[in-house]
Amino acid sequence: MATWLATAAFGLEGIVKRELKGLGVDSSAENGGARFEGDFATGFLANLSLRCADRVLLIVKETKVFGFEDLFEATKSVPWADYLPKEASFPVTGNCARSQLMSVSDCQKIVKKAIVEKLKDTYRQSWFEESGPSYPIQFNIHENNLRISINSSGDALNRRGYRTWTGEAPIRETLAAAMILLAPNHLKLPIYDPCCGTATLLIEAAFLRANRAPGLKRNFLMEDWVNVPADDFNHIRQNAASLVDYKQIGKISGSDIDKNSLELAQKHLTQAGLESYIHLEKKDIHHLELPSLPQLIITNPPYGERLSDQKSAEDIYKALSRLLKTSPGNTLCAISSHPGFERIIGRRSQHKRRLYNGRLECEYHIYLPKV
Ligand SMILES: C[S@@+](CC[C@H](N)C(=O)[O-])C[C@H]1O[C@@H](n2cnc3c(N)ncnc32)[C@H](O)[C@@H]1O
Repeated sequence: MATWLATAAFGLEGIVKRELKGLGVDSSAENGGARFEGDFATGFLANLSLRCADRVLLIVKETKVFGFEDLFEATKSVPWADYLPKEASFPVTGNCARSQLMSVSDCQKIVKKAIVEKLKDTYRQSWFEESGPSYPIQFNIHENNLRISINSSGDALNRRGYRTWTGEAPIRETLAAAMILLAPNHLKLPIYDPCCGTATLLIEAAFLRANRAPGLKRNFLMEDWVNVPADDFNHIRQNAASLVDYKQIGKISGSDIDKNSLELAQKHLTQAGLESYIHLEKKDIHHLELPSLPQLIITNPPYGERLSDQKSAEDIYKALSRLLKTSPGNTLCAISSHPGFERIIGRRSQHKRRLYNGRLECEYHIYLPKV
């Protein structure tokens, strides 16, 4: 058994905990993620399946540290050879906050040195080529609490493998997935994004409905590690692949005014294997008419962060308000950092949640149908 941390952006920790529960894994949410116990197969399952987590870290040490000596001894006390083979490459990165140890570069050198010393003792060799599988080591020192972990994911989990082109202001896949998971009736109602950009929200919605594990088409660093149950990993991946059912996607569509974004979106749909499941068209939201059938309008509209863009962002919110009024059966779920969003929509949202789009503090508003 090992301790793992599925890291998540501020505000998404509880959602990741819920996702883990859905996988049959008990966890506790904490600042920066959800922590769980499990074997390597469980760590792999988390990498493959979590939609809203950033990375899955294998925690190898947690203790208090107040000086370099403490940091060295704490790092050296880890049985590193249990994890790292002789040829492992082990880059060290980290951060320090509100602690006595505040020099990241000094801490980095000390952690590296302590690991090398420990490996020297165990492997009885003085030089390590670091030419083998990668075990990125991460140290975090926060209020004198040290955590040392190994990144089992590699690239961040939002890199699902379908987005190789970036649009103007694409939303992160992890945040898009969280918005879908938080939307009422997200598995049943038709979904429409009137400012779909590169279609991230629509693709994440389709993956969720099709029960397609987000990591199905990518690899994780832990798959290259030694002494891991590779057969179990293969079995988990095959099992996840067998659970995918595209027939469950239902109606998902969207539009955008920008031709270039729509071209990127179409490429993403092809990369994701969803081109025949999601319909996109070029449309100005100001001319959009939606059927009054109940549906989920879910969107990441412009925020008008720059003063020069404010008016056009506000006009889009007015158009969203019009769509709500003309189709009272619709649910609107929209994220924005604009403080006047509710005022422009003309009423308060029934549910509101603070979420971060990158570093930008936003509110995620949910307006339930009036009927
Ligand atoms: C914040 S971006 C959305 C990004 C998208 N979530 C993604 O992942 O790529 C806002 C989008 O609103 C679109 N937009 C701006 N004005 C519009 C209008 N009048 N009608 C429809 N879409 C508009 C922009 O082209 C842009 O793609």
